[in-house]
Amino acid sequence: MSDDRLARLRTHGDVPHHVAVIMDGNGRWARERGLPRPLGHREGMKAVRETVEGAVEAGVRVLTLFAFSTENWLRPVQEVSALMGLLQRYARNERDELRRQGVEVHVLGDLERVDPATREAVDSIVAETRGGGALRLNLMISYGGREEIVRAARLLADAVRRGEIDPDRIGPDTFSDLLFTRDVPDPDLLVRTSGEHRISNFLLWQLAYTELHVTPVLWPDFERTDLFEAILDYQRRERRFGRVATS
Ligand code: FPP
Repeated sequence: MSDDRLARLRTHGDVPHHVAVIMDGNGRWARERGLPRPLGHREGMKAVRETVEGAVEAGVRVLTLFAFSTENWLRPVQEVSALMGLLQRYARNERDELRRQGVEVHVLGDLERVDPATREAVDSIVAETRGGGALRLNLMISYGGREEIVRAARLLADAVRRGEIDPDRIGPDTFSDLLFTRDVPDPDLLVRTSGEHRISNFLLWQLAYTELHVTPVLWPDFERTDLFEAILDYQRRERRFGRVATS
């Protein structure tokens, strides 16, 4: 089944260069089984592994995962520390395998708020996977789209104040260059699991022309075949970027 979809997407059309994912439904997955929420997150880590491997197999070049939002800091302290613990485990346990697969990890977000042990673990996975040429994996941690835009506006205002930028020359590219994602193209495809049709403060600027794919699958149950299905769905879309269709 998996090979069939993989073979089809390879012949069907363009594979999206950049896929972004809102990994949702860990809590519901746990509740359905009478388990504490952190166990849903733990199970979600397996889906991360599946998705990374699937992305490499499909030929996706950039994968951006929403691992922890600015709003997630407001969750109960035990859940926040469980999530930070999982990030540390992921960074320590997956490093060698990611390197073997040619995955280069980047960690983007307001990392000042992250505790030192997690910070150290993520810094080391970034350093030790540098140069991986198959896939760039962006882990968005302590990330919020509005916060990212405000940060860029502040950087821009500082540059104007220092006389480095003429306000009349500020355009979309000037702005994009100040976002965390400055060195990657905007996502072609956004996948959201658990059936919610929301953006939830993710990549607000970058998703302007991104194709959306919502699946009812809860994140811990997400497999590479679900990613392949999302890519096949993307390949059926006609992307016009606000223009009229060309025939
Ligand atoms: C949303 O589910 C998911 C999260 C807040 C965290 C995502 C984290 C992981 C998948 C595990 C660790 C990640 C990495 C990259 C190692 P939810 O808790 O909001 O689910 P609910 O809406 O059903 O309550």
